[in-house]
Amino acid sequence: MTKATRTQVAIIGAGPSGLLLGQLLYKAGIDAIIVERQSGDYVLSRIRAGVLEQVCIDLLDEAGVGQRMHAEGLIHGGFDLLFNGERHRIDMNQLTGGQNVMVYGQTEVTRDLMDARQAAGLPTIYEADNVQVHEFDTAKPRVTYEKNGQTHTIECDFIAGCDGFHGVCRASAPKDKIREYEKVYPFGWLGVLSDTPPVHHELIYANSPRGFALCSQRSATRSRYYIQVPLTDTVEQWTDEVFWEELRKRLDPEACANLVTGPSIEKSIAPLRSFVTEPMRFGRMFLAGDAAHIVPPTGAKGLNLAATDVKYLSSAITEYYQDNSEAGIDSYSERCLRRIWRAERFSWWFTSLMHQFPGNGEIDQKFQNAELDYLIHSASGARTIAENYVGLPLDFGD
Ligand code: FAD
Ligand code: PHB
Repeated sequence: MTKATRTQVAIIGAGPSGLLLGQLLYKAGIDAIIVERQSGDYVLSRIRAGVLEQVCIDLLDEAGVGQRMHAEGLIHGGFDLLFNGERHRIDMNQLTGGQNVMVYGQTEVTRDLMDARQAAGLPTIYEADNVQVHEFDTAKPRVTYEKNGQTHTIECDFIAGCDGFHGVCRASAPKDKIREYEKVYPFGWLGVLSDTPPVHHELIYANSPRGFALCSQRSATRSRYYIQVPLTDTVEQWTDEVFWEELRKRLDPEACANLVTGPSIEKSIAPLRSFVTEPMRFGRMFLAGDAAHIVPPTGAKGLNLAATDVKYLSSAITEYYQDNSEAGIDSYSERCLRRIWRAERFSWWFTSLMHQFPGNGEIDQKFQNAELDYLIHSASGARTIAENYVGLPLDFGD
């Protein structure tokens, strides 16, 4: 038997994109149902992004979920670049006329959004199997899924594909109407989370002859570290002891002296990829966040881009219902893509500058060092990296 429900927007995926979209639509008085393949606990167990741009902070405030973020998030006005054995600070705040970023984990953002959704009594269907999207090229799209042995149908006006890189929405777009651009990098990031104080009060991005390393954090007592590893490596190969030893070899003496090690509470390897789908709209189905694009994490742009897609989408849908205008939904894809390509370019460039690539020789390391040397000693070089890192405003160059 099939059970049918109706809503205005069916959102596929309860990651940060889907949850933020649900919250922004709720604030605008628009009904939405979120359908998620996993359980809520599983979604919260994924350790991912850690740095929020001001635009993302503002959107979380607009969604009414900023309270804990402001109380617990750490404001960072700069970060260090380590190369040739020495550390140099990029003073983002000074270089961008007062802009900062905030260190506040994706897990916490997700938890705040989940709590707000639950408090407002809004519907999220977790552990939905075999989610499918139908007839989004007509005015009556539908979503079907299975749960507890029953097939359910959601009739809606719009489908929002917030279902990540491996989701069903992008995969359901007509093959002759979609174009995908992709670069897969020949290495991954091994990430370790540990309840130890961070090695430094700001982030350290390290270019070392042994490979990239990143010292990040979640709080004054919780650290997040990453090292570049070959894609063939497995997590089992990297005991905590071997990880700390390798991290040390990629840092400067001062950082090594400050490094506090301890047992890992999470350890995973993430492949690195640049990926963009064009367009991001197929009739009445829209893609947002990782469903439409992936950036390598070096520029910390993934979550931030997802948030701005969602802002453009919620504004477009709100305009449709409140002003009876399709202008926003018609320009959604183009508006997002311009911003996305700018962030893709920065993330690709920063990744290329900071990692060791197979086949590269000593001369390539010299080129990287010379470029980094230029960047930190030229006011315009330093400003370029700072203004890209803090991110573009929502409406840039319009
Ligand atoms: P997701 O977080 O992927 O959420 C999509 C949701 O859709 C998931 O909950 C998924 O279970 C659900 N879903 C999938 N398929 C279906 C389906 N068929 N039906 C229903 N639901 C479905 N960014 C950074 O800035 N810094 C980082 O360090 C960083 N590290 C990362 C590490 C990894 C391993 C990954 C995968 C990403 C990382 N990112 C990082 C990127 C950042 O986490 C993403 O950009 C962000 O999660 C995007 O949010 P999203 O909601 O669009 O997608
Ligand atoms: C993180 O803290 O997980 C993090 C921070 C900065 C990045 C990537 C990941 O560029």
